[in-house]
Amino acid sequence: PSTRVSLVVNGRRLTVVVDNRTSLLDLLREHLGLTGSKKGCNAGACGACTVLVDGRRVNSCLTLAVRLEGAEVTTIEGLAKGERLHPLQQAFIDQDAFQCGFCTPGQIMSGVGCLKEGRTGSAEEIREWMSGNLCRCGCYVKIVRAVEQAAR
Ligand code: FES
Ligand code: FES
Repeated sequence: PSTRVSLVVNGRRLTVVVDNRTSLLDLLREHLGLTGSKKGCNAGACGACTVLVDGRRVNSCLTLAVRLEGAEVTTIEGLAKGERLHPLQQAFIDQDAFQCGFCTPGQIMSGVGCLKEGRTGSAEEIREWMSGNLCRCGCYVKIVRAVEQAAR
């Protein structure tokens, strides 16, 4: 069965008809062409698919699209304001906080969540609240520095 869902994605209001089993991640990547959010594990273990739903971090691979009636979704594609990067995007560049970049959209969205939640008081706190986001390249030290920079 399919369901009609109206939601806002990166400020754009849209209505989609999705199979009831469709995850938010597949809605974004397969239906809307927003491929910034990455499918790492598709099982809630890596954080590569992290987006904000109504300002809160979620693993979009574990979120059913049909649950999102009326929700506001923000993905990595919606962070910059025109040419102006979000301060955390700029911080990732300044701190050289990525290698292959696969985990980066999820890291940045999770970091934005940390900033909103006020979980950036210390490197330890950032590490703890970003612990759901894995980086196979091992960029953790620089990722924490980037979040610290954006929090200043
Ligand atoms: Fe969603 Fe890994 S793809 S947590
Ligand atoms: Fe390669 Fe994180 S930069 S997985």
